[in-house]
Amino acid sequence: MTRLAGKNALITGSARGIGRAFARAYIDQGARVCIADIDFDRAQQTAQDLGPNAIAVKLDVTKQDSIDAAVAQTIATFGQIDILINNAALFTAAPIVDVDRDDYQRVFDINVSGTLFMMQAVARHMIDRGIRGKIINMASQAGRRGEALVSVYCATKAAVISLTQSAGLNLIQHGINVNAISPGVVDGEHWTGVDAFFAKLENKPLGQKKQEVGAAVPYGRMGTAQDLTGMAVFLASEEAEYIVAQTYNVDGGNWMS
Ligand SMILES: NC(=O)c1ccc[n+]([C@@H]2O[C@H](COP(=O)([O-])OP(=O)(O)OC[C@H]3O[C@@H](n4cnc5c(N)ncnc54)[C@H](O)[C@@H]3O)[C@@H](O)[C@H]2O)c1
Repeated sequence: MTRLAGKNALITGSARGIGRAFARAYIDQGARVCIADIDFDRAQQTAQDLGPNAIAVKLDVTKQDSIDAAVAQTIATFGQIDILINNAALFTAAPIVDVDRDDYQRVFDINVSGTLFMMQAVARHMIDRGIRGKIINMASQAGRRGEALVSVYCATKAAVISLTQSAGLNLIQHGINVNAISPGVVDGEHWTGVDAFFAKLENKPLGQKKQEVGAAVPYGRMGTAQDLTGMAVFLASEEAEYIVAQTYNVDGGNWMS
């Protein structure tokens, strides 16, 4: 299939999980993909597994010099960047009275500043070259409303939705579409970490929170990374040309907005 034939994508945090599934789906649609991750060993392994249309780049989205270097390296290898997915993120959880300032800063740096300054770096390149690009940010149902024990992560994802709106409105004059995907609960290493937080905070056995959230999804189970790939391909394709500054729920019916 060739819905993304000839396109070059940079996907942050794609060494594993949802980003990795997006990389596979994009390559299957004819794109080349840069696996950009702070875990460079795993990024290299992932790129090797995905074959000749994947490269690995070391990227820490909290560091401007790392952003600039990763973007430059991707352009040097592929010629240009047509699609950016801001997917790298960290989760944290604590009651309000226990929120730690350093933890708050670290999670905001990755989830919010990382998203903003990656958009900026890639949008500058797209504008310079006249590329009618696509930028996709990973939001979350956590950004749609607060959760008692998840204040910081929820606030970062609300910020991602807001940044998507502002950047979408600002960049469409250059033919750059900015939109977001809002997943619900997606099984994988990320959610194994979330489950461990809740085991501690709610005094539950490991694995119980996953069962609870899966049973509560109207579709009847947690999502998989694969469940999100259709939306990621669509938003990067020419079919999404008239879609601007939107956030789409892909969550088995958890949220309606
Ligand atoms: N899994 C879910 O249930 C779920 C639900 C809603 C939203 N999301 C969002 O989807 C996205 C992907 O989630 P996932 O489940 O695949 O997460 P994950 O934790 O499995 O993967 C995140 C990746 O980001 C990388 N990363 C971390 N810090 C980085 C940094 N500073 N610079 C560059 N890379 C960094 C990690 O090495 C990892 O490879 C995230 O934005 C997440 O918030 C996930």
